[in-house]
This record gives sequence, structure tokens and C-alpha cells, in this order.
Amino acid sequence: MKKLIIINGPNLNLLGKREPNIYGSLSFTEFLDEVKTKYTNVEIDYFQSNIEGEIIDKLHEVGFSYNGIILNAAAYTHTSVGIGDAVKAIETAVVEVHISNTFNREEFRHQSFISPNARGVILGFGLQSYELAIQSF
Ligand code: DQA
Repeated sequence: MKKLIIINGPNLNLLGKREPNIYGSLSFTEFLDEVKTKYTNVEIDYFQSNIEGEIIDKLHEVGFSYNGIILNAAAYTHTSVGIGDAVKAIETAVVEVHISNTFNREEFRHQSFISPNARGVILGFGLQSYELAIQSF
């Protein structure tokens, strides 16, 4: 069975409560429960952190053994050379995901330190972006 992990960055623990007009009103755990019952042919682990170094440590931990990583680095997408370097350093393919279409938002969200080293980028489809990423593996 393929082993995937979803890694979510800062503030995504507040999904459902945080700016629902942008990010929707479903919590990530509710969404993940649904997804797990739908995609029974893959194992899907989940990790969320508000701390940059913890995200880097998790990428190192899973990046040589898992079949795929689905990464929403949230605000760190636009600032973190360290997470970008970690994505480059590991062997497992990373699909970068965003809930919102970052290109129709503020200019600072147009830059990504993840994209150059990602297998692909999926954004703007709400939580469905994660499902599209799962289907890509
Ligand atoms: C986000 C977009 C980022 O710009 C923002 O900082 C987030 C969430 C998204 O999923 O749309 O926290 O990654």
C-alpha cells in the first residue's frame, strides 16, 4: 500500500474557524476523516505544525521512505528558504498544495520557495486541492 503524508504549516490547525470566506468552514480533521474513508487504497498520515523547524524535521523523517508528501507550508511557502531546501534535499516527491488561489491574493503570496523543487503544484480548489494531490500519487 502506498504511504502518503499530508504536512500542514502554520495556522492550518484553525481551519474551519479561520477566515471561512477564504478557507471554508470544515475543520481539517473532519475533512481528513472523510478522505480516509474515500481513499482506502492508500495510507495517509497527517502532521501539522506552526513551527518551521518541526516541518523541516518531519520532511527529513519521511522524505526517504514515504511514497509521497503533500505539503501546504502555508505562510512559510512565501518565506522559508529552509523548507524549500528540505524539499530539495529529500528523495520523496512533494506536491505543493494551497486551499486558496494564492495568485489572486496579495503579491507576497505569489512567491513560493517550495514550487521550484515540487513535483507539481495544486492550488485554488479549496480542500479539494488535497484530494487532487492524493490522486496524483
Ligand atoms: C495557504 C495560502 C498562504 O498564502 C497562507 O499563508 C496560508 C494558507 C492556502 O492554503 O491557501 O496560510 O497556504
